[in-house]
Amino acid sequence: MIKKIAVLTSGNDCPGMNACLRAVVRTAIHNGMHIWGVHNGYRGLLADEIEELNTRSVGDMIQRGGTFLGIARSGEFFEEEGRKQGYDNLVKHGIEGLIVIGGSGSIKGAATMSQEFGMPVIGIPGTIENDVWGTDYTIGSDTAANTVVDAINKLRDTASAHRRIVLIEVMGKTSGWLAMTAGIAGGAEYVLVPETKFNIDQICEEIRQDYAAGKRYSLLVVAEGAASATELGKQIQEKTEIDTRVTILGHIQRGGSPTVQDRINASLLGEKAVLAMAEGKKDIVVGFDTGEVVEIPIDEATNNKKTLDTEFIRLAKVLA
Ligand code: F6P
Repeated sequence: MIKKIAVLTSGNDCPGMNACLRAVVRTAIHNGMHIWGVHNGYRGLLADEIEELNTRSVGDMIQRGGTFLGIARSGEFFEEEGRKQGYDNLVKHGIEGLIVIGGSGSIKGAATMSQEFGMPVIGIPGTIENDVWGTDYTIGSDTAANTVVDAINKLRDTASAHRRIVLIEVMGKTSGWLAMTAGIAGGAEYVLVPETKFNIDQICEEIRQDYAAGKRYSLLVVAEGAASATELGKQIQEKTEIDTRVTILGHIQRGGSPTVQDRINASLLGEKAVLAMAEGKKDIVVGFDTGEVVEIPIDEATNNKKTLDTEFIRLAKVLA
C-alpha cells in the first residue's frame, strides 16, 4: 500500500483549493499515511520546496480563498529534464505518489511525469472555468459563478436607474461555462461565449426595439474569449446611440471565500483522491458525474475538450 504521498496546486488558483488541501491532508493522516505539500506548484517541485504536513498545517483553512501552498508556473517542467528533476525530488523524500489540484494543463504535466518515470499521479480538477473533460464540476466554479452573479445584480441596479446598456466581461478564454451559468442565473439579456457566434447588428437592433418598447436596461455578459467587452461596448454605443458602460470583473472572480458547494465538493474530491491512491490507483482524475464522485482516465480528461452544454445555450436564449 502507498503510504507516502505529496500534493501540489498548479495552474491558476481558485476558491476551494484550500478546502481540498485540507481534505487531502486529513484523509491521508486519518489513514495512516504521510503527506507532503509542495510549495509554489511545479516551480517549487523542481526547487525541492517540499515540506511534510500535519493536521494543524491545514487548520483555519476551509474558508480561505487562494491556496496556502502557493502557485507558480514553471517552463522547465514542460521539458523532460525538468520533470526528471521533479521526480527525483519526490523520490528523495520517499514519496510514492503525487496529487495535483489544478486545470487540465496542470494535471497533464504530472501525467507526463507519471508516464515517463512511473510516479503514480491523481488529478483533482480545480479551475473557475469548469472546463475539464469528464467531470460536471471543477473546484472554484461555483464560487466564481456566484461572484459574477453578485456583480450582475449590482450592475442591474445602476443600469436600470440610468437606462443604460451594461456589458460585463468575465473570465473564460476558451470556455463559456462561467459566463453562461452566471448569465442565466443573473438574468442577463445576452450571453456571449467563445463556443457560439453572435451578430452584433442583430443584438443592437433588438436592444433598440426593446428600449422603444419601454425596457430600461440591457445586460450583456461577455466571456473574454468571445470578444473584448470594451471594444464591443464602443460598437454598441455607436450603433444604438444608447448610453453604454463596460465592467471587466477580472481577478476578483478567482478570489474569495468558497461557497458551501465548493467546500463540500472539494472535500469529497480530496478524500477520494487519497483513498484511490491508497488503493494503488493511478493516472486518474477524480470528478463528478451527475452528483456521484467518479474516476476518469487521466489521458481522457486532459486530451479531450469539454463542450458547453447546448441546453444552457438554448435556455439563455429562451429566457433573454
Ligand atoms: O483561471 C483561468 C483564468 O481565469 C482565465 O479565464 C484567465 O484568462 C486567466 O486565468 C488569467 O490568468 P492570469 O492569472 O495569468 O492573469
